[in-house]
Amino acid sequence: MAHYKLQINGRSYETDADADTPLLWVLRDNLGMVGTKYGCGIAQCGACTVHLNGNAVRSCSLPVSAVGTKAVTTIEGLSAQGDHPVQQAWHEVDVAQCGYCQAGQIMSAAALLAKTPRPTEEQIYTAMNGNICRCGTYHRIREAVILASS
Ligand code: FES
Repeated sequence: MAHYKLQINGRSYETDADADTPLLWVLRDNLGMVGTKYGCGIAQCGACTVHLNGNAVRSCSLPVSAVGTKAVTTIEGLSAQGDHPVQQAWHEVDVAQCGYCQAGQIMSAAALLAKTPRPTEEQIYTAMNGNICRCGTYHRIREAVILASS
């Protein structure tokens, strides 16, 4: 067990965890940030996506010991009022069906648009390809990403 100081959503948090504990479980179990979801635990579904220094990463496969001083952003910290352009587009297009994967989808889309404000269809496909939706809302996800980018 070690002691970690983490920068999450613009605030400092301290917690104890084993070095190999995935960031996902530190967020959910230690810090009570349950917006980030567990899907597969092996970096294959994207439900656990958060930002690390602005890059979309799979928190289920990122040991807390590898986070260091990098800035973590979770769905709770993406915007103050749930009004990030991607979140607004998600509401407008009514993307979610069951909703389980949506926090991860939104975090991947937000990371894409922060770096590439006007992505091509191919760039959207590439950026969102690793986020699985069991309900098959891919068409609406693509529509919302395009709306958020316009
Ligand atoms: Fe992390 Fe599936 S839970 S990629």
